[in-house]
Order: sequence, then C-alpha cells, then structure tokens
Amino acid sequence: MALLNIVLDDDQIMRKKSKPVDKITPRILQLLDDMKETLDDANGAGLAAVQVGVLRRVALVYDEDKYIELINPEIIETEGKQEDIEGCLSCPGKWGYTNRPMKVKIRAMNRNGEIETHEGKGLTARAFCHEIDHLDGILFYDNAVRMIDESELEEILKKDKEAE
Ligand code: NI
Repeated sequence: MALLNIVLDDDQIMRKKSKPVDKITPRILQLLDDMKETLDDANGAGLAAVQVGVLRRVALVYDEDKYIELINPEIIETEGKQEDIEGCLSCPGKWGYTNRPMKVKIRAMNRNGEIETHEGKGLTARAFCHEIDHLDGILFYDNAVRMIDESELEEILKKDKEAE
C-alpha cells in the first residue's frame, strides 16, 4: 500500500467527470487500498479517486468505524433535508453550509463486483452526496448556502461541544 497525494481544488482535474469502472482489475483493487490508507492518514470522512488524480468512479466513505468502498455509486433515493457544515480534503481552509438530503440510499459495486445498496443518514448521507459529486466534477462550495472562515468554524465547534 502507499500514501497518495491529495489533489487540491485549483487543479483542473477536479472539474472533470470520472469514467465508470467496467471491470474490477488488480489496479482498481490497488487504488482502493491506497485510497483507504490515504483517507485514514488524512482523517477524512470520504475520498474520491479524482482527489488522488484518477478519473474513475471510485470513492470511499467512512461510516461506523469502517470504510465503505463504492465503485460506480449512484443515488437511488433521498429523503428529507439537512443544512450543515461541510469541508473537503482537496479544499483546505474552506468550509461552508450546504443543503443535502437527510437520508440517502445509494447503489454501488463492491470490490468483488457485487452490486450492493447502502443507506446513510446525517453525516453519512452528506458524505455519499459529496463523494458522488466529486465523480461529476462538482465541489461542495459550488452549491454552498454560505461559506464560513476558520474562526467562525472554531466558534461553532466550541458551542457544539458545550451543548453536548
Ligand atoms: Ni471532498
């Protein structure tokens, strides 16, 4: 396994549409393993292959202490609405409020080539939407309701902690 370089949002590749995976090859499995190591190291909630410079519809989402591997993920159902703060490993120093569905059901292939469905709510639902957006060249701040700066973020996190 290897740690991969995370591409930043000013790189034009981030705006490109990723291509579907038609066959699980050793290269795709290697990509998943390396992305897992990279995401673990960066402590993120999710990572799309484009963020490590690979234009393939592959992404990882961290959920309940494990990484869900998503190949050719598609949203098949959404429910409700949420507005919360989002950031991205490719956009250091940028945070903003985005509108996302509260619950999301997706369909994706796993590393064995099997089609699975996954349901996520709250943070996981946001991560599913955020990563699938990456595969279409969309960044979270494209549709942010409002961007916030670091001091505002710290203020909000502090208040959340006090409320716990
Ligand atoms: Ni991101």
